[in-house]
Formats: sequence, C-alpha cells, structure tokens
Amino acid sequence: MELIKEIETSRNSSVLLKAIFEGDDAPTLLVKKQSQITEYLKENVAYVYLGKKSEFGYKDAYEFARDLAENCARSYQLDLTTFVTEKLCIKGVVDAFTKGINFSAFQYYNLKTFTKRVNENSLSFYLENISQDVLNVFKKALILVDAQNFARNLGVTPPNELNSEQLAEIIRKDFKKYHNLKVKVLERKQIELLGMDLLLSVNKGSVYEPRVVIIEYKGNPSSQEKTVLVGKGITFDSGGYSLKPPKFMLGMKYDMSGSAIVAAVMKAIAQLKPNKNVSAIMCITDNRINGDASLPDSVYTSMSGKTVEVNNTDAEGRLVLADGLYYGATKLHATRLIDIATLTGAILRTLGDTYTGIWATSEKAWEDIKKAADIQEELIWRMPFDKEYEAFMKGSVVADLKNTDYTGNAGSCSAAMFLREFTNNVEYIHCDIAGTNDIDEKPMFAMVKTLIEMSL
Ligand code: BES
Ligand code: MG
Ligand code: ZN
Repeated sequence: MELIKEIETSRNSSVLLKAIFEGDDAPTLLVKKQSQITEYLKENVAYVYLGKKSEFGYKDAYEFARDLAENCARSYQLDLTTFVTEKLCIKGVVDAFTKGINFSAFQYYNLKTFTKRVNENSLSFYLENISQDVLNVFKKALILVDAQNFARNLGVTPPNELNSEQLAEIIRKDFKKYHNLKVKVLERKQIELLGMDLLLSVNKGSVYEPRVVIIEYKGNPSSQEKTVLVGKGITFDSGGYSLKPPKFMLGMKYDMSGSAIVAAVMKAIAQLKPNKNVSAIMCITDNRINGDASLPDSVYTSMSGKTVEVNNTDAEGRLVLADGLYYGATKLHATRLIDIATLTGAILRTLGDTYTGIWATSEKAWEDIKKAADIQEELIWRMPFDKEYEAFMKGSVVADLKNTDYTGNAGSCSAAMFLREFTNNVEYIHCDIAGTNDIDEKPMFAMVKTLIEMSL
C-alpha cells in the first residue's frame, strides 16, 4: 500500500467509504457489527458500522485506520466528514487517519523472498472543503508519522546490517539534507579525549568503534534555554560477560531504539522549525564479548569523574547514557535533559507494553511531557525518584557507584537513580521504553510523537 500524501477534494474511482453509526438511517442489509464494512458496489459506496456515535473518539479512529491499512480487501476513498463525532472533530479525523494509515502502510526492512504479505490496495482521503487549519494538521501528521517510521525502520533492521559505525554513517548521510541542523560524529579518539570511559568500557568487547552523534538545532539563538535529548544506542545487547540467556537475547537489535528516536525527533524538528533550541546525542556501540571485553568487577571513571564498579555488564545502557547525559549537561549546556532508552526488563513487568515509564525531577518537567503525550495520544506513567532506590548502588567498596542494584526490587527506579547522578543537577526527564518500543517483534516506537510535540 502506498503512503497517504495528499487530501483529495474530489471523488476518485475507488469505492467511497463512509462511517455509519447506531441510529443513523441505514441502507438495507447493512451489517451492524462493530467495524464491519458493508459494500454497495452498484452505487460505488461502502459503509463501516462504528456503533455509538457519542463514543467514537481519536483512539478508535486511529485503531480503525491502522487495521484498515493492514487488512482492507479493496481500495477505498475515505469520506472524512462522515467520521466526525461529538468526540472527534475533522482535524482529529485527519490526524488519526494520516498517522494510522501511514504507520501500517509503511514498508520497513525485510528480506522476505516468498512470504511477503503486502496489501496491494490503496486508501485515499476525500474532503471537499479543506481549511488552512485542517491542512496544517495534515502536514504536521505526515511529518510526525514519517519520523516515527524512520526510527521504526532502523529499529527493526538486524544487527548484522546495523553496527555502530553504520548507524552513525546513516544519520550523517541522511541528515545532510537538513541545512538547519548541525551534525557532528565523534569517533573513538575524540571519545577517549573526552574521558567517556563508561561508554568505552561497553565498547571494549566490540570489533566496531563507538560513535557519539550530536545533532543540534538552534531555533531561538537569543535564548539560553536548551533541551538535550540523549538516546541509548546499543546496536545489539548480548549482555557482555554477564551474558543473557538465549531467549532474553532475542530482540536486542532494538536496543538502539532510543538513539534512533532522538534522531527522528530532530528530523521532524528540522521540518517543523520551532523557535526553540534542541539538541540530540546518540550514544552508540554494541555490547558483546571478545578477549578484552569488560569484566564484571571492573571499575571505570566516567566523564563526570564519578567512578563506577561494573557489577553487571548487562546494565550497559546506563553506562553509555551516563556519559551522554554528562556531555549534554556540560558541553552542550543543556537546561533540560531528556533521555530515552530501552533500559530495563523490569519496566515491562511494572507497566506492561501499555505505558512508557517516565521519571521527572520537577513538576514542570512532568507537566510538559504529560501535556505533549496527551496531545499525541500516547500513554505515559510517572515513576518515582527516591534516595532509597540508590542505597545498594552506593555501597561499592572500591568505587562511587555500582551499576546494578541486586536487591531484585524496583530495578527501573534504581536505574533512573543511577542516571540522575550524571545530570550535573540539570532538570531531567528519563523515559524507559523497554516495554513499549517493540511488541511481538514489531517496531511500535512510542514516544517519538510526544518528544516532537514537546519540542514545539
Ligand atoms: N536492554 C536491556 C533492557 C531490556 C530488556 C530491553 C528486555 C528490552 C527488553 C538492558 O540493557 C538490560 O539488559 N537490563 C538489565 C538490567 C539488569 C542487569 C540490572 C535487565 O533488565 O535485566
Ligand atoms: Mg543489557
Ligand atoms: Zn541494553
């Protein structure tokens, strides 16, 4: 299926798909089953039954659009105004349908040679009168879902085709087209000079070089305010010497998703041009084993000067992010730091694959991200920072911190406390997407849209 690129103001030859609700004057033989489509091909029209009109809202429209793009058995032109309800204005319909269809219709990486299941039908929009408002909503939705798809494609790409050097190179090349972004790729030598030894420790087991990609956007040069996004970019997480069991290693190609997300956010920012200052840092390496890979019990000095005893090489995300956060705070002069990471299996136990876990050091920071998430209809839940959660990690005999809390409790919260140590007291938001990023092997990429919204 082709992606939606425009709203048509006249009818095309496809069957016109209209919404019909409970109590509407229904044509004869209409099947009144939720989301069921009844076709009247002589009239070149079809109706989808959507139940109670007063209950049909944004989420329903989005889910319907996603399902239609995946499963429709025929090409349709969607009669957009018929989907408007008390809970959903025409802008909501356009936004939900654009994002839903383009999410599902997007063809991400695959090397399938004979089982390819693609929907060859097409979906198009019909809306006779398009106001400037509606057009703006449409254009913004296209940019957001496009950014999300960019990140989804990187996430789903297998690790043998996307190592640290390749990921950095893809970003450097692709971002050349955005003249309002400044992109810098730090290589091993520069990373060493900066003293990012926590990141380097994770990279020790790799045959590929580490990379730190910095993307900067200055939409308000006269302001000191600057948000810096930091993304976890582990192109594969084997666990290192604290090796993951086979089943738990599967899907660890997605462990670079945080870094793909911060890049995707910058992509959207380059096009939406907000008058704010936003930068992104991608902390990229893989986590694997070779003869000189980092050993548990090792001690390293972070860029911040704080020392860390690595009591578990599988808690590598917090190591690379620690140096990334400190770089953002001190070299980029962030006034707000936001990291995003597939950080802990524990968050999946806590919130399932439904809510993204969020930690915020201030009420204002929480309110800002909650507001953005509400606008973008993404689910987030606030989690606590508390000194209690760092007690174990502060008990190292040989360093300032251990990287892992072995109490077995609240592993996502101790991870958040570890990261906060490296923020240099800058206002800070931490997003743990380990539960919501990929579901049943598929790239969902929650939080791309919320983080873009926050930057506007
Ligand atoms: N990348 C994983 C977290 C993860 C787990 C993401 C499952 C997605 C699905 C992370 O690096 C990790 O290994 N975390 C450990 C932390 C532990 C060693 C404290 C975990 O969650 O088991
Ligand atoms: Mg790990
Ligand atoms: Zn990891």
